[in-house]
Amino acid sequence: MASQTAAIDLPAGAIRQHLIDPALCIRCDTCESACTTGAITNDSVNYVVNAEICNGCLDCLPGCPTGAIDNWLPVARAYSVAEQYGWTELPPPLELGLAAAVPSPAGRGAPASAALARENIFTREHPLLAEVVESLRLTVAESPSEIRHVVLDAGADFPFLEGQSVGIIPPGADAQGRPHIMRLYSVASPRTGEAGVAGRIALTVKRVLEDHEGAPHVGVCSNFVCGLRAGGKVEVVGPYGASFLMPDDPAANLLMIATGTGIAPMRAMLERRLGRAGPGRQALFYGGRTPGELPYHAELAALAQGFLDLNLAFSRVPGQRKQYVQQLLGLRHELVAQMLVDGNSYIYLCGLKGMEAGVLEAFAAICAQHGLPWDKIGAELKAAGRLHIETY
Ligand code: FAD
Ligand code: A2P
Repeated sequence: MASQTAAIDLPAGAIRQHLIDPALCIRCDTCESACTTGAITNDSVNYVVNAEICNGCLDCLPGCPTGAIDNWLPVARAYSVAEQYGWTELPPPLELGLAAAVPSPAGRGAPASAALARENIFTREHPLLAEVVESLRLTVAESPSEIRHVVLDAGADFPFLEGQSVGIIPPGADAQGRPHIMRLYSVASPRTGEAGVAGRIALTVKRVLEDHEGAPHVGVCSNFVCGLRAGGKVEVVGPYGASFLMPDDPAANLLMIATGTGIAPMRAMLERRLGRAGPGRQALFYGGRTPGELPYHAELAALAQGFLDLNLAFSRVPGQRKQYVQQLLGLRHELVAQMLVDGNSYIYLCGLKGMEAGVLEAFAAICAQHGLPWDKIGAELKAAGRLHIETY
């Protein structure tokens, strides 16, 4: 079924098809994992939607970090999966007197009071050439884990909001000779710019030297970015992200859960709130290997002096038991339960994909402990744009 989407009348014979924009897709697999019908599949290049199977349920929309999924194009006939696999960009929509791309009918699930996010100001065809202002190693020198704080000067034409990501295009080509696809990095500074300097964007980038299974793998983009130093140039696209945004309401509570570089959007949001704090609380549950390998450890410790309810889990401190963020949530179950039922709480998860299931299980267990219906609460949080997950 190809015409399942927005309620805009189409001329006879035309249909509206859900398509994924290959120029924006970063192949993060979120859409395919979210698709309950099996309509979304991929080869080594493109993610595609089978119009025969897609039922228009929109489950694939909220997780897409770039908006590649948000295309509901008027077409003369449904494009086949084989055709979509061959695309490097979307075909032009029919001339139907309609907007080329209809915004997602479901909206992107941002908090109701969030500022309006702009996306796609710079594209692969027209990237921004940004200059690196500084690159600081955040993890101690003796650690095998290198995470860097990289500040880019993007100038005045790249407005962004806390929670959004930028795309970096690594130079060079893949094994098939195609230009590398962009990789996303969460912005770690508030909309007013890193250290209050407008146009400066901080990123928190981990140098990938092994895959998630621990086998050696030199990540293309993270090694490029971590190798850059002040004065270096980098092609930036975006910004991206229209749902993982913070409420613009000082009374809202923020419950933030992160591992590793997942701290980036939380840092941006906390800095935005500093000096503008209202009655709303901010609690952070953050997991890293050791204090010396925890990005922004000293900064966070300073915020914990009266502003932030900070809860740290360390997994590799010699002589100490391994602790993960989900265990910390259990230890603070009263706070977590209160936040889950408070209609003005906003929950953010960012970092390792592996953490996601454990955190959601911890929420379910805490709810059970407090006699609360997690299924209902979780569904309501999502529907109201109050539960945001960005894992990779
Ligand atoms: P590639 O050459 O693309 O190799 C990827 C492979 O490396 C994966 O298949 C996986 O097996 C392995 N791998 C090991 N560790 C990681 C890891 N941490 N992330 C991804 N793959 C890994 N990264 C950051 O460092 N900081 C951020 O703030 C950040 N924000 C992101 C926000 C979003 C919305 C998304 C989707 C991703 C984000 N990432 C972030 C991950 C980033 O986009 C890249 O995927 C990562 O840097 C690896 O890219 P690469 O080119 O170096 O590796
Ligand atoms: P671990 O020491 O077991 O790898 P990284 O430094 O690799 O980016 O990871 C950040 C932190 O997240 C580390 O403390 C790591 O612990 C932890 N971590 C790894 N897997 C999970 C998981 N499934 N749930 C929660 N935390 C995790």
